[in-house]
Amino acid sequence: FSMIKIAPSILSANFARLEEEIKDVEKGGADYIHIDVMDGHFVPNITIGPLIVEAIRPVTNLPLDVHLMIENPDQYIETFGKAGTDILSVHVETCTHLHRTIQQIKSEGMKAGIVLNPHTPTSMIKHVIDDVDLVLLMTVNPGFGGQSFIHSVLPKIKEIATLVQEKNLQVEIEVDGGVNPETAALCIEAGANVLVAGSAIYNQKDRASAIKDIRNEHLI
Ligand code: DX5
Ligand code: ZN
Repeated sequence: FSMIKIAPSILSANFARLEEEIKDVEKGGADYIHIDVMDGHFVPNITIGPLIVEAIRPVTNLPLDVHLMIENPDQYIETFGKAGTDILSVHVETCTHLHRTIQQIKSEGMKAGIVLNPHTPTSMIKHVIDDVDLVLLMTVNPGFGGQSFIHSVLPKIKEIATLVQEKNLQVEIEVDGGVNPETAALCIEAGANVLVAGSAIYNQKDRASAIKDIRNEHLI
């Protein structure tokens, strides 16, 4: 993966004008649309659910990258699949039977992603990494946009990148939280290839140039 993908998080978009906000980043060169689903239990915030995913599906051609921050994710896999999710990611901290959950996501026709909180060791996913399409490393504690990047996650990105390389897998490595042009460069250097950014894109007027800056094309 030499190509860096940018996944704008709509959490920082204007929800009253969601269609425009999504089309704006699509036109600006986004690769995925990142959708943060929060239940007020696993994380201390409530955001959007499958109804919004379904509403978004027809307004963009980009893959919908849905990040579940909910307890009991198994219960909602089918619903998110039917709503038009392309990549469904679950937190390993919420999955007692992670291997089963991954297979369930795939059997609904979606790509399967697994997410690690900043403090969760990479060894947690060593035995399922062959089965997933994407690993998402949280670089903030999940729950809110606009928090600052936790630098101690950088070695974890490297560990996953090394594992993926050693096993010769086609697994994408995504980072989420506090990503801006500077921290993006550190993540790319450590081996990430999908960068989620909410406030660093949606708080800028010119989304195309924000996306370009985060992509750090001069590094590649
Ligand atoms: C945090 C969410 C992120 C959030 C990132 O819980 O998972 O996707 O939108 O926001 P920024 O880029 O502003 O840190
Ligand atoms: Zn997210």
